[in-house]
Amino acid sequence: HGEDGYLAWLPYRRQETAEWLKRYKAYRQIVVAGAPEDGGAAVIHSAAAELARGLEGMSGLSAAVVNAGEVPDSEAYIQLALFGSNPEIDGLFPEAVITEIGAEGFAIQTDAHTGRIVIAAAAPAGLLYGAFHLLRLFGTGQSVNGLNIRENPVNPLRMINHWDNMDGSIERGYAGKSIFFENNRFKADKERIRDYARLLASVGINAVSINNVNVHKQETLLITDEFLPDVAEVAAIFRDFAVKLFLSVNYAAPLEMGELPTADPLDPAVQEWWQHRIKDVYSAIPDFGGYVVKADSENRPGPFTYGRDHADGANMLAEALDPFGGIVIWRCFVYNCKQDWRDRKTDRAKAAYDHFKPLDGRFKDNVVLQVKNGPIDFQVREPISPLLGAMPSTHQVLELQITQEYTGQQRHLCYLVPQWKEILDFDTYLKGEGSTVKRIASGELHGSRLAGIAAVSNIGDDTNWTGHLLAQANLYGYGRLIWNPGLTSPEIAEEWIRLTFGNGSEQLIRTVQQMLLDSWGIYESYTAPLGVGFMVNPDHHYGPNVEGYEYSMWGTYHFADWQGIGVDRTKATGTGYTGQYAGSNCERYESLETCPDELLLFFHHVPYTHKLHSGKTVIQHIYDTHFEGAEQAERFAAEWEALAGSIEEGLHQQVAERLAEQAEHAKEWRDRINTYFYRRCGIADEQGRTIY
Ligand code: GCU
Repeated sequence: HGEDGYLAWLPYRRQETAEWLKRYKAYRQIVVAGAPEDGGAAVIHSAAAELARGLEGMSGLSAAVVNAGEVPDSEAYIQLALFGSNPEIDGLFPEAVITEIGAEGFAIQTDAHTGRIVIAAAAPAGLLYGAFHLLRLFGTGQSVNGLNIRENPVNPLRMINHWDNMDGSIERGYAGKSIFFENNRFKADKERIRDYARLLASVGINAVSINNVNVHKQETLLITDEFLPDVAEVAAIFRDFAVKLFLSVNYAAPLEMGELPTADPLDPAVQEWWQHRIKDVYSAIPDFGGYVVKADSENRPGPFTYGRDHADGANMLAEALDPFGGIVIWRCFVYNCKQDWRDRKTDRAKAAYDHFKPLDGRFKDNVVLQVKNGPIDFQVREPISPLLGAMPSTHQVLELQITQEYTGQQRHLCYLVPQWKEILDFDTYLKGEGSTVKRIASGELHGSRLAGIAAVSNIGDDTNWTGHLLAQANLYGYGRLIWNPGLTSPEIAEEWIRLTFGNGSEQLIRTVQQMLLDSWGIYESYTAPLGVGFMVNPDHHYGPNVEGYEYSMWGTYHFADWQGIGVDRTKATGTGYTGQYAGSNCERYESLETCPDELLLFFHHVPYTHKLHSGKTVIQHIYDTHFEGAEQAERFAAEWEALAGSIEEGLHQQVAERLAEQAEHAKEWRDRINTYFYRRCGIADEQGRTIY
């Protein structure tokens, strides 16, 4: 699998330099001190086996897991130990460190006398994360002398949502078919799921939902005896890597399975039905995570049918899950998807807040609301959803999209970590300055017990997992960033590059890093301008179509005419959406003076001649960014070409193909958008470039 990208960032490439070998050669034995008897032993085994695999691969020498008695004390080795299992190990760490390390955290310390490296944790998951952390240090060529590392994940829930259907298709999947399902059943071969679980654990993911939030007929049966044995098998694979399994459920399951005439959450028969179901689920999977629910959203069933609200709906399921420790993850992607485009009053951006904010305090303690980062739908640029943090008495998780639905569908390069960092660093001012989204997501701001981040997966059964090899950086980066939002985008990119391609060529590392870091901005520059969004082909969402959604029912309009463009969402003259923001954000977006350029058309309708803070007019900005963006996309292809000698041919080739397509397609974007606006307004490009 060396040349096809299957091993992703865990190829454990042979480290060629003498310096590397000198530094790490001694570490070839792994000792486990005090493994628990229960399920945790498997997680520790995963950790130890991974260390052996990684050390062998990188050093080219044999490495093994051995018993404590087998290595002389004088030798350097790697030790995995749970706090409290061995007094000698506890003695290495100050009392304060032991209490500071949480359930999933770890400490790594080098024993100055022998060079022994100790990874210690409160629970098996921490040892697994610690093992991957240490392997990352080895793999990126960092020193392991005098290590004194303490890590705890910042976000409690670190989740991946799959939108996989049982027929094997993946909604918004751009990397092949499902690794879980085919032909309306589970795939018989589950080896790939194990490799996937390793990838997830290596970046600290601890939860996964395996089926689409749009739960169709067959998937409705996942919580029945027909499929629970398979679900249990998959859960067991993930369990070995400390990843908890969740399922998306159909709110109308009792009705659609023909077992009850209703799915009304306040009907005792419905409540009993779900209680009964959940017993079966937990007898198959004792550590089952819970349900993900998309209800009353885009034609999916929900409590509205019965005149009940989202709190009634979620609480009924939460009640059933509570005795088993399960949770309900209830999505807030709720809006009118049958809007009349002539109706200028209804604003889809306002919908989630309007629906959910009034319900604050009504949800049971094992319900957590999942809120998309923006108020519309994973566009290349959107403001932050004002619902995030606006419900202090309700648990929330932030939802991101790793799969590149609106950001080039893994045919264009778009490294999303910088976008996610902007989201996490955004200050909501909900509790004064410093009320950032990252403090909301982590649960810290409101002292929330259930909190964290979920994101839609970008993987499929393509050999390299993500279609575009460089899109692996998004999965890697997602995990790393939500473990520690303090990491920077360049740091994460560099780690991924070193682990994936090796440390051999500094030119390669710098070139790919810069490509990744520039890619989001470049994609933005040749697609929909200034935060206005969409302008894509309907349904599949790939490629330019300026009016693709302009007269549809989906509530995503730009209102371009011959004079101007943009959506007036102000309180003064528009839909009033700006009023959902707290503190100075409301005024900042409301006023043309202070609204940031990149979101101008999300909040305001302006003439093409309106001057941006940049000094350019809107129309000239559109022309300039589209010409420049397409040029930059072409530059990617050329830069990658120059790396041909420093990467395996197979890997080089697959990326080269995607970059060539991107360069071509960026021109299509450029010309469609520029031509559309030129024809609308008749204002010529100041630089007289070709517009058709
Ligand atoms: C988007 C996406 C859908 C998806 C939906 C959701 O609208 O296009 O495919 O089902 O988001 O998040 O539920």
